[in-house]
Amino acid sequence: MRIQVVDHPLVAHKLTVLRDETTDSPTFRSLADELVTLLAYEATRDVRVEDSDIVTPVAPTTGVKLASPRPLVVPILRAGLGMLDGMMRLLPTAEVGFLGMVRNEATLEASTYAERLPDDLSGRQCYVLDPMLATGGTLAAAIRFLVDRGANDITAVCLLAAPEGCTRLEKELEDLQVPVTVVTAAMDEKLNDKGYIVPGLGDAGDRLYGVA
Ligand code: URA
Repeated sequence: MRIQVVDHPLVAHKLTVLRDETTDSPTFRSLADELVTLLAYEATRDVRVEDSDIVTPVAPTTGVKLASPRPLVVPILRAGLGMLDGMMRLLPTAEVGFLGMVRNEATLEASTYAERLPDDLSGRQCYVLDPMLATGGTLAAAIRFLVDRGANDITAVCLLAAPEGCTRLEKELEDLQVPVTVVTAAMDEKLNDKGYIVPGLGDAGDRLYGVA
């Protein structure tokens, strides 16, 4: 597993405002959207392209276009939905699949309650959107779900990550022969006893959707 913490002053600035407890929901939503686009730029560095012959107004030339099959973007419901527009801004022709995962707040274990994904993901580059890589349980379950459908090239885009989650993810995915990359704006200090990232930004879903 490869973890890439995106080091850029605009990423750090937007993340700082997101973390601030006085930031309201509309501002949080629009900053999360901008931040995801910046992360998406890094996350798609290895997106597959193929040569494409075109003619400019001046001369014929060869460039590249996104290769087939199209990439698949998978927001994990609910909070991953708040990252979808930011990702699709850079990959407008990607297909979108949905995965609903819920974390049991007592056991901190994740389970799937909804899915709308293609049956066969072989050969697809998959981009999973999950704002908080906290315990790693949700992301590990989501990645396993995609691998079971044949995915073998997975990048997770997370606003924030915790070291405990990264360690668990690495361990849980050890047996899968699938390269997984995590792209995040920051690696925070730790988890608290409720499984929240410290210092973190609180409950990403609640802040995105204005739940008090
Ligand atoms: N989910 C969140 O929304 N925030 C955390 O800190 C951890 C999990």
